[in-house]
Amino acid sequence: MHTVLSIAGSDSSGGAGIQADLKTITCLGEYGMTVITALTAQNTMGVEGVEAVSVQMVRSQMDAVFSDICPEAVKLGMIATPDIMEAVCEKLKEYKAENIVVDPVMAATSGSSLMENRTVRTLKEKMIPMADIITPNILEAEVLSGIEIHGKEGMIKAAEVIADYGKGAVLIKGGHLEESADDLLYKEGKAVWFSGKRFDNPNTHGTGCTLSSAIATFLAKGCSMEESVEKAKAYVAGAIEANLDLGKGRGPLKHNYKI
Ligand SMILES: Nc1ncnc2c1ncn2[C@@H]1O[C@H](COP(=O)(O)OP(=O)(O)OP(=O)(O)O)[C@@H](O)[C@H]1O
Ligand SMILES: [Mg+2]
Repeated sequence: MHTVLSIAGSDSSGGAGIQADLKTITCLGEYGMTVITALTAQNTMGVEGVEAVSVQMVRSQMDAVFSDICPEAVKLGMIATPDIMEAVCEKLKEYKAENIVVDPVMAATSGSSLMENRTVRTLKEKMIPMADIITPNILEAEVLSGIEIHGKEGMIKAAEVIADYGKGAVLIKGGHLEESADDLLYKEGKAVWFSGKRFDNPNTHGTGCTLSSAIATFLAKGCSMEESVEKAKAYVAGAIEANLDLGKGRGPLKHNYKI
């Protein structure tokens, strides 16, 4: 089995974060491990509480995983504070981690904030330079680039700016576009669109977490970056199209629709 590590927050309702990542990695046939950075009291209607894990406990989890089962790919999700982000970067460098997928989670699907403002700077200066791919949604791409995005042209402009912060690829997700669900992969100065049919389904809690952990899983399987994005997007589309309907708010995906 290929091994994938998710470094992210816990979502008590099971639809996003660590829980969505483990379901995704397992349903795609590989072995998932976790470093939990925060606990959230969360459901389909919103986030009612956030408690960050101590920096020392984050370091200990990293040491425990890397000193025993070295992951073939790493997905980074919610990291609320600059201290935790710095500690994670140091450990990834120390263990020479590969296939690093950064999902710059700034807010939950419900809109609740999951990242302190001052963490954005550490993200730009420390974490993005280490990433093989970063996967912002439209709002996160606006924050990272300082460019307002009203459509596809704005997505390309924002990707060009974000690409300059590091050496890796940039995937701007189109889930918040109105007419389509087209995602833009910007890599080595080239823009490639991954088109997607937009499903009229309000239950999209955790689509971003699911996509980034699926990309990490396909990279761990040895797929190229383009192939990993394509296969991951197809997996997310199927999990949305399966139309699971749980909870009173924006419900989770059906991660095991292939089984
Ligand atoms: N209604 C939809 N129909 C089809 N694909 C969708 C839909 N909504 C999102 N997607 C796809 O899901 C993936 C995640 O994109 P999205 O923009 O929703 O990320 P996100 O805002 O980070 O999600 P999250 O709320 O989980 O953090 C992308 O590949 C996007 O195209
Ligand atoms: Mg997201």
